[in-house]
Amino acid sequence: RSEGGADHYELTERPAEAELLPGLRTQVWGYGGSFPGPTIVARSGRRTVVRLVNQLAEPTVLHLHGGHTPAESDGFPTDLVPPGAARAYTYPLDQRAATLWYHDHRMDHTGQQVWRGLAGMFLVRDDEEEALPLPSGERDVPLLICDRSFAADGSLLYPALGGGRPGVREAYMGGVLGDVILVNGAPWPELRVARTRYRLRLCNGSNARAYELTTGGPITRIGGDGGLLAAPRTARTIRLAPGERADVVVDFAAYRLGQQVELRNLAGEGPQARVMRFTVDRDEPDDSAVPQRLSAVEALDPSRARVTRDFTFSSGGLHGGTGWLINGRPFDPGRMEARPKLGETEVWRLTSDVAHPVHLHLGHFQVVSVNGERPAGPPEWKDTVELREAQTVEIVTRFTGYRGRYVLHCHNLEHEDMAMMAAFEVV
Ligand code: C2O
Ligand code: CU
Repeated sequence: RSEGGADHYELTERPAEAELLPGLRTQVWGYGGSFPGPTIVARSGRRTVVRLVNQLAEPTVLHLHGGHTPAESDGFPTDLVPPGAARAYTYPLDQRAATLWYHDHRMDHTGQQVWRGLAGMFLVRDDEEEALPLPSGERDVPLLICDRSFAADGSLLYPALGGGRPGVREAYMGGVLGDVILVNGAPWPELRVARTRYRLRLCNGSNARAYELTTGGPITRIGGDGGLLAAPRTARTIRLAPGERADVVVDFAAYRLGQQVELRNLAGEGPQARVMRFTVDRDEPDDSAVPQRLSAVEALDPSRARVTRDFTFSSGGLHGGTGWLINGRPFDPGRMEARPKLGETEVWRLTSDVAHPVHLHLGHFQVVSVNGERPAGPPEWKDTVELREAQTVEIVTRFTGYRGRYVLHCHNLEHEDMAMMAAFEVV
């Protein structure tokens, strides 16, 4: 519904039955009762208002991941919408076209609530992108990838942890992995495609699993978390840690009629290697192209930063059971770990023990160095970066637009729930 210069959506969270595995009924918690929730398509610079109606028996919080959002609508982990309540989240979307997603963000419970279905995709479009001849319409396909485990009767399996902070469990400490990979809620789905280019918006919505995706042939990456790249880059594999997105173009004209092209995960084996397949079943005209110049991407200059901050991600007593920590402390929503100034460039130095995908709210950033080395290629905007084991990654960022409380955290959702999160206030 469009009204008063804004687009309005209503998302009702409710228990529902879905057929995720063929012939079986699965109880999910869905936005609009579906798993995943509906894909919202919005326009840069046009206000989008999402009214969240909570018909679940649990409190929830809505976060637009990658959104440049005022603090009161960002979904701070303690800004709960209680059972039976509703509230409106306002997204001004003063940001570039990008592939975003939305999901639950309730403190200590995000992993379980997302696992049950509280996630969906959110595309922001703009004029710059629409002026490009990229594949569009039916050939622009959002793909939300996540892994789940099921019991024999089709119900979702998630480790039972009781109330409060979860105790230490081997399966839970590393993050919860599923044994079936789902794409838009379906295992190993098939998409029939013409012998033309397709734009695939890959989003890793898994709690803890990272993917190395391949079609076996060349993939052209055109965008990431923060929208279009300056220029396309050809890749054989696309690595996606939890929370990350990749916008890619695959040209099925390179394949024969009747051929099946598999999207596989090189980081998994057996069923965890199977993501989806494309069956090339027709010839159609293709007027799309991938131009050599996609977008003007501003490079943030780290030498202009007056402030450098350190954030160390570490396990806090695997045996003592305190979970996962940032700068030696568990998440405390009342303590501000940093107070960056609005509009100022800062360098944040992120250091890990084991691998942690780190996500910042509000501020998009560019990677300056990984273990002291500059990354290859021109800068790109990101909101989530994977720290591999024992890595230090320096990022340059600038918080613009809104003051207030936000969070950064590990996007391994069980790590986040075990307190690997920190609040900061933009002042
Ligand atoms: Cu995708 Cu703070 O989250
Ligand atoms: Cu982590």
